[in-house]
Amino acid sequence: MSEFLKNCWYMAAWSDEIGDAPFGTRMLDQPVVLYRGSKGQVIALGGMCPHRFAPLAKGKITGDMIACPYHGLGFDASGTCVHSPFGIEVPPAGKVPAYPAIERDDIVWVWMGDPDKADAAAIPDFSYHVDPGLRVVRGRSFVPCHFELVSDNLMDLTHARFLHPIFGGDDWRPEVSFSQDGDTVFSHYVLPPYPPSPFSDAIMSPANGRMVVEREFMRWNAPATMYLDIQFSWSDAPGENEIPQPSTHILTPETEQATHYFWASGIPADAAMTDEEHLEGLRFAFDEEDAPMLESVSAMMNGRDFWDMQPAILPFDQGGVRARRILRQKIRAEQDA
Ligand code: FES
Ligand SMILES: [Fe+2]
Repeated sequence: MSEFLKNCWYMAAWSDEIGDAPFGTRMLDQPVVLYRGSKGQVIALGGMCPHRFAPLAKGKITGDMIACPYHGLGFDASGTCVHSPFGIEVPPAGKVPAYPAIERDDIVWVWMGDPDKADAAAIPDFSYHVDPGLRVVRGRSFVPCHFELVSDNLMDLTHARFLHPIFGGDDWRPEVSFSQDGDTVFSHYVLPPYPPSPFSDAIMSPANGRMVVEREFMRWNAPATMYLDIQFSWSDAPGENEIPQPSTHILTPETEQATHYFWASGIPADAAMTDEEHLEGLRFAFDEEDAPMLESVSAMMNGRDFWDMQPAILPFDQGGVRARRILRQKIRAEQDA
């Protein structure tokens, strides 16, 4: 049985992925189609026609209606069949689910649970995406594993030393701590001063012989929505005039064993690094370093349950473990209700 939390916001797409044509995706193992209605608003519907199960993502949009590409039934923003090309009456079951959708900070959020419980105030803050003082690049990756394995990866950044030499390297040895505020989990890293790297040089002013100080805050909200706040400063004035590098790591399960990984990262608008270099650095880390490792981890697990396998829990795992527990409690509470 699939075990997804239904009553929460899931990222379905970046805003600019939803244009004139229908956009098909799969979330929580359900087909979903997204498109813009007559006022430019995002509409999210079940993506499979109830007649002969054609993909509505191949259909045609007219105003707020999307017409099925197979026999032409048309559905409005509420998922109701409002158009039957041959004038035939469509039974009441001939409708598709309609999901609340909200566009904020360049993200399209979709609520797959009880629509009456959809609370826009529960969407975590990613307003840095539209901060004019930053240059933000973004993308998406596909990771062929359960999304909680990707959360574990992001909540324990000590893997950077081994998987991401460009960010970490042999001396990467941060102080790590964890905290929790309600259902929000934080992992916190402080890196001892290190000599400027090509990466820090590209986003900070020239080093003039100084060492770099870096602190990192990862924030997690259910189901797997993470924000990493990195601040760089100089060792002669640690914590002063910090240079921000905020980043986004949002996971949406496609299925039980596949994950949409949406990512973004901002650097000061006047930083030396070009958008192309920034984008390629991130893409390489996620697609060519993290994703292959996570795919092999998933293959090792071979469908077995994470806790049944009795994983060795290290001190650095606290954030990921807390996140897993909170999510499990929420799913259980939802199922009991
Ligand atoms: S499959 Fe959609 S109208 Fe027939
Ligand atoms: Fe990583």
